[in-house]
Amino acid sequence: MSKTQDTLKHVAENLRKRITTGDSVAQVLRSDELRALYAEIPTLPADERAAFGKQVNQLKTELEELGAEQTEKEDRRPIDVTAPFDVNTTEQKRPHLLPSNYGSQHPIPAEISDMIDIFYRMGFNVSESRQIDDDYHMFESLNFPDDHPARDHYDTFMSEEGFIAPAHTSTMQNRVLQEYKHVLADGEDIRVVIPDRVFRNEDLDATHEHTFYQLEGVVVGKNIHTGNLVATLQTYMSQYFKQELNTKIQPFYFPFTEPSFEFAVQRPDFLRKDDSEEQKWLELGGCGMIHPNVLSHANIDPNIYTGFAWGFGIERLVMMKYGIEDIRHFESAKLDFLRQF
Ligand code: DAH
Repeated sequence: MSKTQDTLKHVAENLRKRITTGDSVAQVLRSDELRALYAEIPTLPADERAAFGKQVNQLKTELEELGAEQTEKEDRRPIDVTAPFDVNTTEQKRPHLLPSNYGSQHPIPAEISDMIDIFYRMGFNVSESRQIDDDYHMFESLNFPDDHPARDHYDTFMSEEGFIAPAHTSTMQNRVLQEYKHVLADGEDIRVVIPDRVFRNEDLDATHEHTFYQLEGVVVGKNIHTGNLVATLQTYMSQYFKQELNTKIQPFYFPFTEPSFEFAVQRPDFLRKDDSEEQKWLELGGCGMIHPNVLSHANIDPNIYTGFAWGFGIERLVMMKYGIEDIRHFESAKLDFLRQF
């Protein structure tokens, strides 16, 4: 066998082996050995060139086919679901972690931790909500009777078994009341905030998303009144926007509060275009005095204790703070947008 044929045979064996032991075809086709074979073609005597060129091309096709077979074999391999993630993958297919200087924290969790810091300083505990819940927590414990028309405002996704992707963080009210009610016996107040993700069946536009975040607040104790509610929201908003801001409430309806209000905050100076009445206030969310039935569902005696609750959209607040015009940016994975934070 000529020296060239000898090299060809040797390289072919090597490259086949690399593919069957897990190297990707792309890698093998880019290998120096295969390149060297191609580079050899023009150096050969004219009468050998065509035949050798053909052999090298055949080898390339063979390697591609072998690669395809191999991928199919790997895909059919049973997966051990109890194994650590990388046991089921070849070296080449494992995710390569990017160095951390390529990333930044997403603005929503970053802002949530700032919000939580403010509430910690105001004496609140923090709880998480959940991504899937049931009718009792989402509606019944919040004083929505069956077939109550107000349920329509919380149209969301539901599984065939009747589980619900919660449309508001109020779905946690009953749980946090149950969890913290022991502090009432010690003469302390329940104070909890719940920032988390919620879901709605929405027509999407610049201010509406199907998946977004809310921050819920729940306070219960003796002699708690609407004045405390307004003061709490006002203190929080002034801290968050880093300037003294007024808050106002106006009557509204929620089944789980009585009385119920919408609340608005005075538009911070840097967001105010002019002095018109329209520019003066920003509508932020709902609030009210917790309905006696909601307290009773958590076995808290409404004749002894009263409380207030509120809920606002987190994106809405973040959009105001940074002058972001479209809520869809947050979930868009647009790096130009995300890198600004
Ligand atoms: N859950 C309401 C919503 O998403 C907002 C809300 C209103 C929360 C009043 C409350 C409350 O806790 O007391 O529309």
